[in-house]
Amino acid sequence: MKTFYVTTPIYYANSLPHLGHLYTMIVCDSIARLKRQRGVDTYFLTGTDEHGINIERAAQKNGRTPQQQADHVVDYFKRMTREFGLDTEHGGYDIFMRTTAPFHYEGVSELWRRIVKTKTPKGNDAIYKGHYEGWFCAPCAAYKTEDEYNKPATPDGVPTCLVHENTPLDRVSEESYFFRLGDYGDALLDVYESRPDFVRPESRRNEVMSFVRGGLQDLSVSRLKTSVSWGIPVPDDPNHTMYVWFDALTNYITAIGFGNEERDRVVGFEKYWPALHVVGKDILRFHAVYWPAFLMAAGVELPRAIVAHGMWLDPNGRKLSKTLGNTIELEVLHKHFSINAIRYFCLREMVFGQDGRFGYEALIDRSNSDLASGLGNLSSRTLTMIGNYCDRKIPPGQADEPELAGFVATARDQFLTHFENLAFSRALEAAWSVIARIDKMITEAKPWDLAKDENQRHTLNAVLYRAAETLRWLCVLLYSMMPEASMKLAKQLGLAETPDKIDPASLKWGELRAGAAIGDVQPIFPRIDKTKTMSEINQSAPAQPTEAAGTPATEPAATHATQADATGVATFIEIDDFAKVDLRVGQVLSAERVPKADKLLLLKIDLNEEQPRQVLAGIAQYYEPEKLIGRKVVVVANLKPRKLRGFESQGMVVAASYGEEGQPVLATFTEDVPNGARLK
Ligand code: MSP
Repeated sequence: MKTFYVTTPIYYANSLPHLGHLYTMIVCDSIARLKRQRGVDTYFLTGTDEHGINIERAAQKNGRTPQQQADHVVDYFKRMTREFGLDTEHGGYDIFMRTTAPFHYEGVSELWRRIVKTKTPKGNDAIYKGHYEGWFCAPCAAYKTEDEYNKPATPDGVPTCLVHENTPLDRVSEESYFFRLGDYGDALLDVYESRPDFVRPESRRNEVMSFVRGGLQDLSVSRLKTSVSWGIPVPDDPNHTMYVWFDALTNYITAIGFGNEERDRVVGFEKYWPALHVVGKDILRFHAVYWPAFLMAAGVELPRAIVAHGMWLDPNGRKLSKTLGNTIELEVLHKHFSINAIRYFCLREMVFGQDGRFGYEALIDRSNSDLASGLGNLSSRTLTMIGNYCDRKIPPGQADEPELAGFVATARDQFLTHFENLAFSRALEAAWSVIARIDKMITEAKPWDLAKDENQRHTLNAVLYRAAETLRWLCVLLYSMMPEASMKLAKQLGLAETPDKIDPASLKWGELRAGAAIGDVQPIFPRIDKTKTMSEINQSAPAQPTEAAGTPATEPAATHATQADATGVATFIEIDDFAKVDLRVGQVLSAERVPKADKLLLLKIDLNEEQPRQVLAGIAQYYEPEKLIGRKVVVVANLKPRKLRGFESQGMVVAASYGEEGQPVLATFTEDVPNGARLK
């Protein structure tokens, strides 16, 4: 029997998952479902990447041990995958892989041991001990060369990461094991050239090839245990911890039994390897360069292919980031949208390989037009008419429908070809061309008029049969992308076999059984009230859960918690104490980010004084500077000036502070109030 193995990246356990993570799972889940539908024995892996300094730091920041931190994120992940129907129980992943699993330790150690014994194509030891001197970005878990960081302003300053804006890099200067990547350049180029589909899409393959052609540096693959202790020890040298990417990439083979007999028996390395790795373009180098080189060195077969998708950006084309406050949280998606709508939008809107824009409004619009008015409307009106005019039974159709059957079969073939090429958006377009065609047929045939004339019964039956048979095809085609909706549609159509069991390639026109009773007709894609939903989302946005990532807080927060005495009981103040604080109404004249301080904004505030005040506020992660201009705020006007990051702050803006992270919400007024007015 044919087998297939597909993997998502495993997600860092330092923070809670968001849209980017959900997207890769939706893509792989769809791929796995179509393979299964087509009768291929498929294994689908997702999971978490739980080791390394970044998880260690996040744990510390959240007051947890690294294991507790990982468990916490995994619990959340599993809850989300269940709620979005991506877990095993709902026909989704086969394994939620965790790099803290004991069998993984064994497998990673085995891979290391094999590589240690190997000579490179140039006859050198594949792993050797040396000294590493350079910069490391903890959130990227990657060493950074000079062209990959922002140089510091002063010679003794610290560079910052280009990817994780404003994250200071760690200086590493210590003994390290190196993987002799430099010796694998030619072998890798041979692979890219002889297997043009190894890295996809083509634009990414070209990028990878030019990176390798530029010459590869040897790769530091361990840290001293004294610097990074949360990880897998290097076999036979426990003073070293393995580089987290060596550990993480290896999950793809340990999950199916590499290096562990028991696991191998249960799943089967030989049975499923090699895998198709689906990754974001940001982590392509690790998958398309480092990983194949490790495998070559260990004498393990290379992956089937590595395909890289683009990034989700916000509606204005900006990167989704906590700093800008524009990330898409899973809680919000789950609360306001069905998984059908989310899956459809993600697969339809992003041209696979390119960046896509995600906005709630666009999601609502697409869902309402393509799902509620498109497929949903076609199915409900077809089934309602069958209910009304045919006694809830599929009417007999015409045996021979070459034109329509040909059209639908061509659309099916296009769907499958596009899907195979991971062009999900085009696959969906092919399916929707069928909807448009049948909609037109119904509008032109007017079954509601045919039903008034018993002599037209034959034509009426033929029209409704065509529509119902097309719905059956659509239901089978769309199962992999929208499993829940497809199952519901199948039930309403009264199909004997569920769509997950039907290979779309085997569909034959006319196999919908006449006389079969349809099920209860219910809307599959309810229309979303845009105004209501948007206002609910906007109101609930600040309540989205946040989870501290590993970067330590360096700037002071804008606000201070309620004062409490040593026993934690709030202490009272006299009115005179309060009167000491000169609170004034101000208006923001300008706002800008402070270089190299990711939490600070530099505000110029008009307090109706001779000069505007310059005030620094630790709110940059929650407020975009441009949006603050013109806003009324409350300022502590008699706070002793102090210098922060080289700027004098002449006061403090007042904000509520809530949640674990102390998220600030600026105090403001709903009525007009002049600048400089005093709060009493
Ligand atoms: N732990 C590594 C992967 C190790 S695999 C052996 C990692 N984890 S991650 O949590 O940072 O990212 C996981 C995946 O989410 C990546 O493929 C990344 O591209 C994807 N996304 C994160 N943000 C994204 C968007 N805004 N849009 C689309 N996908 C994005 O990297």
